[in-house]
Amino acid sequence: MNQESTNVIPLPDKLATKRLARRIAPHLAPGQLVVLSGPLGSGKTFFTRALCRALGLPEERRVPSPTFTLVHEHATQPPLAHADVYRLKDAREVEQLGLDAQREDGFVVVVEWGEPYIDALGGDALVVSFSLDPRGARLSATGPSASKLLEAVRDS
Ligand SMILES: Nc1ncnc2c1ncn2[C@@H]1O[C@H](COP(=O)(O)OP(=O)(O)OP(=O)(O)O)[C@@H](O)[C@H]1O
Ligand SMILES: [Mg+2]
Repeated sequence: MNQESTNVIPLPDKLATKRLARRIAPHLAPGQLVVLSGPLGSGKTFFTRALCRALGLPEERRVPSPTFTLVHEHATQPPLAHADVYRLKDAREVEQLGLDAQREDGFVVVVEWGEPYIDALGGDALVVSFSLDPRGARLSATGPSASKLLEAVRDS
């Protein structure tokens, strides 16, 4: 259940999405869950790429879409696990990815299409809901650390 949310942040071009990622990145503590929702092609993977760069991943390290591979780990600071659960059927399959344990190990865990599975992912998510026409995003929080994160991003 969302405790609070922002207004829609317009993302008219790729630079705007990069700026949003740069704004959020400094506030991401190890173990934070970030869930990305929104239609096909709305910018979830692009945003994750920008987040990885903002968390120090060098340009020569690729950030491919995990649509088929399900989870990729990136040597960011803190480390980031990027998942796409579009193809999974239920919460049990999501639990089997072990992302909850990765949070405990200090990974920031970013999950495309993860909104129906927030509990299976350990809860307390920052939710970034992308829209396509026009392009934009709304931020919301489903728990205490995500709420603090949302406040910090708002004040930044
Ligand atoms: N703010 C933006 N303005 C213009 N183009 C953008 C923006 N954000 C992303 N794009 C472009 O939109 C396309 C689709 O983006 P992306 O692959 O990130 O979507 P997605 O939400 O991950 O899709 P899927 O649901 O298939 O995983 C890419 O070509 C990307 O460069
Ligand atoms: Mg994607």
